[in-house]
Amino acid sequence: KVPTVGIDIGGTKVMAGVVDADGAILERVRTETPEKSKSPKVVEDTIAELVLDLSDRHDVHAVGIGAAGWVDAQRSTVLFAPHLAWRNEPLRDALAARLAVPIMVDNDANTAAWGEWRFGAGRGADHLVMITLGTGIGGGILETGKVKRGAYGVAGEFGHMQVVPAGHRCPCGNRGCWEQYSSGNALVREARELAAADSPVAHHILDRVQGQIGDITGPLITELAREGDPMCVELLQDIGRWLGVGIANLAAALDPARFVVGGGVSDADELLIGPAREAFRRQLTGRGYRPEATIVRAALGADAGMVGAADLARLVARRFRRAN
Ligand code: BGC
Ligand code: NA
Ligand code: ZN
Repeated sequence: KVPTVGIDIGGTKVMAGVVDADGAILERVRTETPEKSKSPKVVEDTIAELVLDLSDRHDVHAVGIGAAGWVDAQRSTVLFAPHLAWRNEPLRDALAARLAVPIMVDNDANTAAWGEWRFGAGRGADHLVMITLGTGIGGGILETGKVKRGAYGVAGEFGHMQVVPAGHRCPCGNRGCWEQYSSGNALVREARELAAADSPVAHHILDRVQGQIGDITGPLITELAREGDPMCVELLQDIGRWLGVGIANLAAALDPARFVVGGGVSDADELLIGPAREAFRRQLTGRGYRPEATIVRAALGADAGMVGAADLARLVARRFRRAN
């Protein structure tokens, strides 16, 4: 059971874990994602440091990266990343020059789809669509055990489909993208706006952060929603409804049997998925006259991308060993 390392690079945090062949996480480390304003090399330094640290205690055979960006068809270059500094960044080669093991690079939602299909809520699904709600929305399309990448590697960028004309500005450069309405960023933006407006519904959360609006985070909103805080429950409902609407659109385009919802916001579980299912049922075209996809929460939670990256790296390493 040779362990491999999986790394999930999101807009706010970098998670790295040593994962065995059964998908079990043997050890994990995490750190903040360097500021977008810093050079791409700083993120590469962060990755290299995490891998070297884990290599002190584990016999690491390969490294898989799930990056929050558009990875080319050769799975080597990050073409673009709305939430990171990468622009045509040759990530695989840059890391290969620093780490002495085979490297695999893929989009974070693609690795999450793979992780869930192998070890989680996607098991047995021949037609699966993964949606991750974190800083943005990530998408992965998996058909009969194969990630669909499109012609240029960037299929599944669902987060940047326009859902609101002239809507919120998105770091991709457009307006009204889906991820501006259904993501961790959207959740936090709305909560902070209510707090900044000194809305009475925000008084509870303002107490919790002692008036520091910048300290309002997604996990805190989820925590308060679980305690029954009406504002936080409602904000998750809004995110969930937008999620359901987007999923109905994806069902019209892709017709999968199962949607798996992961990423940090999926920790809210039924507070998010419940409203998503309702909106989906109300919005699905041809409802009542077609089989309906199920919407389930990622079994690996926010670890799916990391675990999937490690597992994909294992396949790459195996191919590498055969070739040499
Ligand atoms: C990016 C995707 C990424 C997703 C989740 C989006 O903004 O365009 O490439 O998968 O965020 O991290
Ligand atoms: Na993707
Ligand atoms: Zn966008």
